[in-house]
Amino acid sequence: MKLFLDTADIDQIREALSWGIVDGVTTNPTHVSKTGRPARELYEEICRTVPGPVSLETLSLDADEIVAEARQLAAIADNVVVKVPIMREGLKAVKRLSAEGIKTNVTVTFSPLQALVAAKCGATYISPFVGRLDAVGHIGMDLIRQIRTIYDNYGFETEILVAAIRHPLHVLEAALAGADVSTMFFDVMKQLFDHPLTDRGIEMFLEDWKKVPKE
Ligand code: E4P
Repeated sequence: MKLFLDTADIDQIREALSWGIVDGVTTNPTHVSKTGRPARELYEEICRTVPGPVSLETLSLDADEIVAEARQLAAIADNVVVKVPIMREGLKAVKRLSAEGIKTNVTVTFSPLQALVAAKCGATYISPFVGRLDAVGHIGMDLIRQIRTIYDNYGFETEILVAAIRHPLHVLEAALAGADVSTMFFDVMKQLFDHPLTDRGIEMFLEDWKKVPKE
């Protein structure tokens, strides 16, 4: 499973890249607003820094305008994936963008049927928001399992990108469900390396090593 970082913070991106496990980055308007930087220069810097797909989101609500916006975003760099919210106008745009060879990430997804129609329109990625479903009393990961089944049943190549991940258990469940990608905040990615028994184990080895006689 690929691991994407869900942020527009360039310092977090640089640090996480140094860990050697980041396959790509997803941004959204909220992440961009938190940086306090103009979007265009920020996008250029992120795309230069990340040696993998970078999702940049469109804001228009009409298909023609989404296509125009997507073309502008795609022109920023070869690794741009245009993020389009799942709605009829969005999917009309995705169909056209897919025909033009522009990669898309269909986002703000909450149902398996939305994922089915996105795949039919040629979406490169589908982003179901598991944490937001959990927050309203639905089991977000059930959606991932349903989409996996639908895509496998019909051979859709759209990649399942699990989004709105809240903790490492979501990453584990996504991997067990056969998701293609998980995108997560910096702090969640950091936790993937950790286990209290590892810390204790290392501590014990270092303590014991002190007891080994010097040459
Ligand atoms: C994914 O691509 C989205 O940016 C992100 O996961 C949105 O989820 P959240 O705002 O609920 O964390």
